[in-house]
Amino acid sequence: MKIKARHKHDAMKIICVVGARPNFIKIAPIIEEINNSSRNSGRRRNITCKIVHTGQHYDYKMSGAIFKELEIPKPDYNLGIGSGSHGLQTGKIMIEFEKVCLKEDPDLVLVVGDVNSTLAASLVAAKMNIKVGHIEAGLRSFDRNMPEEINRVLTDQIADYLFVTEPSAIKNLLNEGISRKKIFYVGNVMIDTLLKHKSSIKDQNSQILKKFGLRPREYALLTLHRPSNVDDEEKIKKLFSVFERISQIIPIIFPAHPRTIDQIRRSGLKIKTNNLIITEPLGYLDNLNLIANSKFVMTDSGGIQEETTVLGIPCLTLRTNTERPVTIDVGTNILVGRNSGKITREVKNILAGRAKKNKIPKYWDGKTARRIIAIINKHY
Ligand code: UD1
Repeated sequence: MKIKARHKHDAMKIICVVGARPNFIKIAPIIEEINNSSRNSGRRRNITCKIVHTGQHYDYKMSGAIFKELEIPKPDYNLGIGSGSHGLQTGKIMIEFEKVCLKEDPDLVLVVGDVNSTLAASLVAAKMNIKVGHIEAGLRSFDRNMPEEINRVLTDQIADYLFVTEPSAIKNLLNEGISRKKIFYVGNVMIDTLLKHKSSIKDQNSQILKKFGLRPREYALLTLHRPSNVDDEEKIKKLFSVFERISQIIPIIFPAHPRTIDQIRRSGLKIKTNNLIITEPLGYLDNLNLIANSKFVMTDSGGIQEETTVLGIPCLTLRTNTERPVTIDVGTNILVGRNSGKITREVKNILAGRAKKNKIPKYWDGKTARRIIAIINKHY
């Protein structure tokens, strides 16, 4: 499978597409590597890269702040899509992204993760006969109620290069009839970003700990934003009654996603906040610093299951499935769902010193972006 040059000039033209917060964290090392490899005039060919931000996430705290912190160059295009239903969001991205592809005529479109922007951009590129590379391919929760699962399955079917983070992804892709030749086991770009910033992430005297009056290992961190947990009034209320109980044993800090804040307001939920600190979305480094210094994390995020595994922090995942089984097999992750008995039992285990020990998954070594760009170069 070759990427054929569509242009007379030598440089390969790539468009990197991002839309939502976790995408920015994953694309940062790729952009850095592309820029490094273009400067490196030795064996490698030059690559030019344009960044397209769909605008799926638009709040400064969810978007601009992360670009600034991770020194990602300003996007060349911002499609300004914003919030909306799945159909509306996906459709609007497709309409606008097609115009960009017509103008830029890229050799390759790179997409990351499993958000609506990932699928919308892949569909446009594939139909225009532009090669598609999917970073973080093959992950499966086998739960088609999750919009992300639909995005994953469909993106992988039309992608030409599938870059995977863990062995389960290879198996899933082969089971779905995808050719072995398209699959590349490269590791995890999100962990590239984490390892690059490891020293500030691990700092035990950070400003963010001071700001909230937290001491290392004496608090838990919570994140919650999945529609299956927050969109239903009864479920969100039940979960918060568990968190309130846990917060009486150990303080909890909760950087809340805008979607969750909206749902809390809508449901009229009154949270007793003495020991449960609710704050706006935090920056990337502040959030990871709070994770790295916590006693344990409760989350329904995908990326945080991986970050806690690398940092050796116990992670209780508030879901009944995970598309990232390596975090359970070798990492610190335990699935607890919304089961209050199970959540409380695991919290007690951790506080009693019986937390799971971690190993680092293969290739989660900070060099994944380098592997991806080397593969792309080789195929051009
Ligand atoms: C999206 C992804 C999810 C990912 C998450 C990371 C899809 C289907 N879901 O979910 O996989 O884990 O991003 O955060 O793509 N909102 C704001 N400001 C923003 C962004 C969102 O207020 O900058 C609010 C709006 O009320 C919006 C809601 O959050 O309607 C949901 O945003 P949306 O992008 O549709 O999905 P997420 O829940 O963020």
